[in-house]
This record gives sequence, structure tokens and C-alpha cells, in this order.
Amino acid sequence: MANHFHHERNKNSYTTRVADEQWTTLIKELLNGQLIQRAADIGCGGGIYSKALCNLGVPKVVGVDYSKPMLAAASENCRNYPQIQFIHGDANALNIASNKMDLVIERALIHHLSELKSCFTEVNRVLKKGGVLIIQDRTMEDIYKIGDEEHIRGWFFTCFPQLKEIENARRFASNEVRTTIEETGFKIVEERKLLETRRVYKTKEALEEDLRQRTGRSILYELSDSQLQLLVEYISRRLPMDKEIREKDYWTVWKAVKV
Ligand SMILES: C[S@@+](CC[C@H](N)C(=O)[O-])C[C@H]1O[C@@H](n2cnc3c(N)ncnc32)[C@H](O)[C@@H]1O
Repeated sequence: MANHFHHERNKNSYTTRVADEQWTTLIKELLNGQLIQRAADIGCGGGIYSKALCNLGVPKVVGVDYSKPMLAAASENCRNYPQIQFIHGDANALNIASNKMDLVIERALIHHLSELKSCFTEVNRVLKKGGVLIIQDRTMEDIYKIGDEEHIRGWFFTCFPQLKEIENARRFASNEVRTTIEETGFKIVEERKLLETRRVYKTKEALEEDLRQRTGRSILYELSDSQLQLLVEYISRRLPMDKEIREKDYWTVWKAVKV
């Protein structure tokens, strides 16, 4: 399912956006003034959030991804950020020394993992004691939010209900995330909901093109090109003409601290 990450043609799937202000505000709140000297962004994709961490004042950031094309695009996207180092590696076996990091973020990564224990154990190894892990992903509760002019993703599942089964198989429930975090040497500090602006499109045609390209929407690789075209038409019929579209996504965010 996740093979598309390794295709050269998809390398810019996670470079075309910038971090939303709501995201930045939430991360600041969760860090609550804690000094972060070194952070790692695991499953960094195109480096959008590695860059956002630097913009929050983190002096050294390591972005890790198992896709070489993604990393090449991330380096290009972050060319003005010499404080970011991108390294090739797997979330379950990081090429990072132990007890080094003050912060690790994993945004939209865990639903691509078959299980959580190995990955959280690895994060625990690279964090210093008292270091923070922030995980951001969608639970089925987030997925099931109905579609509307802002929550475009909700319409994917009314148009193609079979996609819910695929999500069900790959999304972790909050209690599973929490239990595994606690089993791997962390204490859970907070769980928050986030409604994040994904992207603002000047016209609905711009959104339609983004959907056709499946940009940053791995679930759309489960549809054939003709099914995708039906979905684009379905969504287009529900959107007003000549109006900017502010697309938003629902997320769950967990903060844990290494004990
Ligand atoms: C949905 S994208 C999210 C990218 C970025 N974190 C963001 O939020 O824009 C998931 C990323 O995780 C990477 N990835 C998936 N499984 C991985 C693994 N086991 N180890 C390292 N990277 C992985 C993919 O290559 C992809 O770049």
C-alpha cells in the first residue's frame, strides 16, 4: 500500500504545503516552554514539519524517512535551512545515537506501520530522559467526521464507503496508541484534538487537480484512475463556484514524556 512513497514521480507529495498556524500553536502549547536543542522528525516526507520546528526556534533538526525520493525533495524544500539534516532510515531502526534528542515528532506516520511497539521503543532509545514524543495521526473517530465544504476528506468515504475498511485496517485506536506508549517507557501527558487547515485553494479547479494528483493523500492510491475521476466529480458538485476553499483535516495528537 505504501509503495507510492518510493516512486520518483510522487516525491513532491509532501512539499507543497506549509504548516498551519493551528499546528504551530498546539506544538508550542504542548512544549510549554521546554528547551528543545535537538529534534527529530520521523517519517518527515518533504520536510514541511522539520522546517516548522526550525521556525519554532529549534536549532538542530534531523529529518528521517525511508524513501530516498522524499528525502531528495525534502532537501530541496528546506534548502534555506542548514540546521536540518536529512537521513535515510526506518522508523523501527533509526540511525541516530541513543539519548540524543529533546523532541521527536511523528506526524502522519504511524498508520503506515504494522505495529507500534518497535517504533516507540526506538524513539525512547534516541530521546533523552524527560524528552518529548509528539505523535499526530487520525483515529477512526477523526476519519468518520462527515464531509463538508471544509472537511473534503469526509466525502471520500460517502462516495466510496469501501475505503473505510482500508482505513479501519490501518488506523490505530487511541487506547492502543496510549497503551503502547506506556509499555515502551513513556508516560502519556496529554491527548488533544486538532482541526488543521490543510491547504487553501483559490478555486475548486485547483482542489480538483490536487485530488487528481493524489497529493499527500495515500488513501486515494486505493482507487483506480476512473474511480478517482468519479470522486473528483462527486466533490466538485458539492462545492460552490468562484469561492476560495479552505480544506481542513481532523487529527489526534498525543504528547508523551520519556520516564
Ligand atoms: C503521510 S507521509 C507524512 C509526511 C510528513 N510527516 C507530513 O506530515 O507531511 C508519511 C511519510 O512517512 C514515511 N514512512 C512511512 N513508513 C516509514 C518507515 N517505516 N520509516 C521511515 N519513514 C516511513 C513515508 O515515506 C512518508 O514520507
